[in-house]
Amino acid sequence: MSSFLSLRDVWVEYGDKIVLERVNLEIEEGAFVSVIGPSGAGKSSLLRVVLGQDAPTRGTITLDGVPLKPQCDSDRGVVFQRYSVFPHLTVLGNTLFGIECGRAPLAGRLFGAARRAALAEAEEMLAAVGLEDSLHLYPAQMSGGMQQRLAIAQALIKRPRILLLDEPFGALDPGIRSDMHALITSLWSEYALTVMMVTHDIGEAFALGNRVLTLDKLRHDPHAPNRYGASIVYDLPLTRKAPQRAETRAVLTQSA
Ligand SMILES: Nc1ncnc2c1ncn2[C@@H]1O[C@H](COP(=O)(O)OP(=O)(O)OP(=O)(O)O)[C@@H](O)[C@H]1O
Ligand SMILES: [Mg+2]
Repeated sequence: MSSFLSLRDVWVEYGDKIVLERVNLEIEEGAFVSVIGPSGAGKSSLLRVVLGQDAPTRGTITLDGVPLKPQCDSDRGVVFQRYSVFPHLTVLGNTLFGIECGRAPLAGRLFGAARRAALAEAEEMLAAVGLEDSLHLYPAQMSGGMQQRLAIAQALIKRPRILLLDEPFGALDPGIRSDMHALITSLWSEYALTVMMVTHDIGEAFALGNRVLTLDKLRHDPHAPNRYGASIVYDLPLTRKAPQRAETRAVLTQSA
């Protein structure tokens, strides 16, 4: 019986460089998993194989018992530290694009009633991330925090089953970052998300996650640095549960 997301003996190698070795991981639906580890440990590489952007060199990854498809699809949404949004589209355009790609993959556009429904959905999602007054702005006209709110809306509009975050708040000022923490915590519960978040900030890892994984090398050969990869060296379950809906409504309205 496998859990929601399951990685079995996953290896990631680039040429003769072993980045990840023997990664075994079972993630329950609804978990918020923080991933920490030194720079170069392979945190982004781990996220990329879960996203399906890269295939692992060995091992299997399954979602609900089914092997991951080798390309990104709407099962997984992703937000990177920067540049997840399209500069030539407005806030509304960026969010609609996420829906249209999923529902009209050939034409890339929806029409008539389908488009009106998509617009309403996009506006609702933008309100949930606090951008209801910024629908017609372009990314260059917005702060870093607003751009990350947009990136989150764009990822969530596809209703992904897993939200993957790669240092999503790393480029933000501390004050803005704490607003974003409140936002992501409330979205986690409001949309019953399963989240995997890479961060350099240990405080953030423990503040947001209900499980914290540390990636590092167990073995190191100073004469052959590429010989061993990192694996999961600590796996700490925390007792935090997703907040209840009523509590998150209040947070969502505050941070809007
Ligand atoms: N496409 C690639 N080709 C070759 N090597 C790669 C590739 N992608 C990553 N690497 C190497 O894999 C190792 C792990 O990289 P990765 O970006 O996953 O680390 P990270 O833990 O996310 O680091 P950081 O904290 O600095 O973001 C690094 O040594 C990197 O140089
Ligand atoms: Mg990285």
